[in-house]
Amino acid sequence: MKLPHRVKLVEVGPRDGLQNETQRLPAAVKIELIDRLTAAGLPVIEAGSFVSPKWIPQLADTAEVLAGIGRKPGVRYPVLVPNLKGLERALDADAREIAVFTAASETFTLRNINCSVEESLQHFVEVCGAASAASVPVRGYVSCVLGCPYEGDISPVAVARVAERLIDLGCYEVSLGDTIGVGTPLKAAALIETVGGKVPVGRLAVHFHDTYGQALANLVTVLQYDIATVDCSVSGLGGCPYARGAGGNVATEDVLYMLNGLGVHTGVDMDKLLAASNFISTALGRVTMSKVARASPAGVSS
Ligand code: HMG
Ligand code: MG
Repeated sequence: MKLPHRVKLVEVGPRDGLQNETQRLPAAVKIELIDRLTAAGLPVIEAGSFVSPKWIPQLADTAEVLAGIGRKPGVRYPVLVPNLKGLERALDADAREIAVFTAASETFTLRNINCSVEESLQHFVEVCGAASAASVPVRGYVSCVLGCPYEGDISPVAVARVAERLIDLGCYEVSLGDTIGVGTPLKAAALIETVGGKVPVGRLAVHFHDTYGQALANLVTVLQYDIATVDCSVSGLGGCPYARGAGGNVATEDVLYMLNGLGVHTGVDMDKLLAASNFISTALGRVTMSKVARASPAGVSS
């Protein structure tokens, strides 16, 4: 099996995970979670978002979170930004990386960010220009790449078109989101083949929600197409409030266990990751969605 030697794990739990929780956690808990994830060796940790606090009140305290975390040199802490107002708030909070987000589905984009795909890209022209002037790197997201909760099947060609536009706007990387976790391996392979025809595969990441239990199978498939950046979420937290039926992201613990078994390097410490997973599950008062954390709560090596 041809696999990358090393995979970069992008931890999205503190943003994608906590945006979808009905309860609002204190900033101190989010800060401790991010600090634990940093200690576990995650190289990129999404720290929150600067969207409308009316739409996503769970992350309204992202500035406080950014001010409280211990930023480790070399680790990146991006935040989601939908528009110029979000960028201003992010820069005021000393965010040093942002992510813009749109979709390959018109209906989802309207529900999620209240505009068309084209309008969202026009907003990003301004956002990316201002971010570049502030020397802040921008990551791009395309949602609904393997299916939409409102429109059903989505053509890989439509995904490729949006991904290419994001790269043209200056995004250093585009993360392909299976927002509702409906993809299966052949569709995931076709997606990377098509999008990879427009955007170098080295600038693509995958962001698989695990609603239908397909995420690991899809991951091992796309790794064979040279994808080497994988979004994942501690304890399998996650979902999008504007995507009916969206389950959690693939659990970081489960991805790490699989990559360790495949001999693919990540630099992430499983025991420290499991400690972070236990911490957030306890704080939320719920059983973890990670199979690995359930099987070995005290650590896989103990
Ligand atoms: P809107 O209502 O169309 O915005 O929202 P507006 O420009 O008309 O402004 C309305 C009000 O919002 C105004 O305040 C603005 O100032 C304020 P008011 O005058 O009524 O008091 N506002 C803001 N406030 C703070 N920060 C801002 C901001 N922008 C406007 N940045 C908007 C448009 C995009 C803001 C809104 O639709 C929104 O916040 N949506 C939330 C979207 C979101 O966070 N979704 C979840 C993340 S995406 C995701 O999970 C998918 C992903 O994981 C990948 C995958 O899984 O596929 C990334
Ligand atoms: Mg997501």
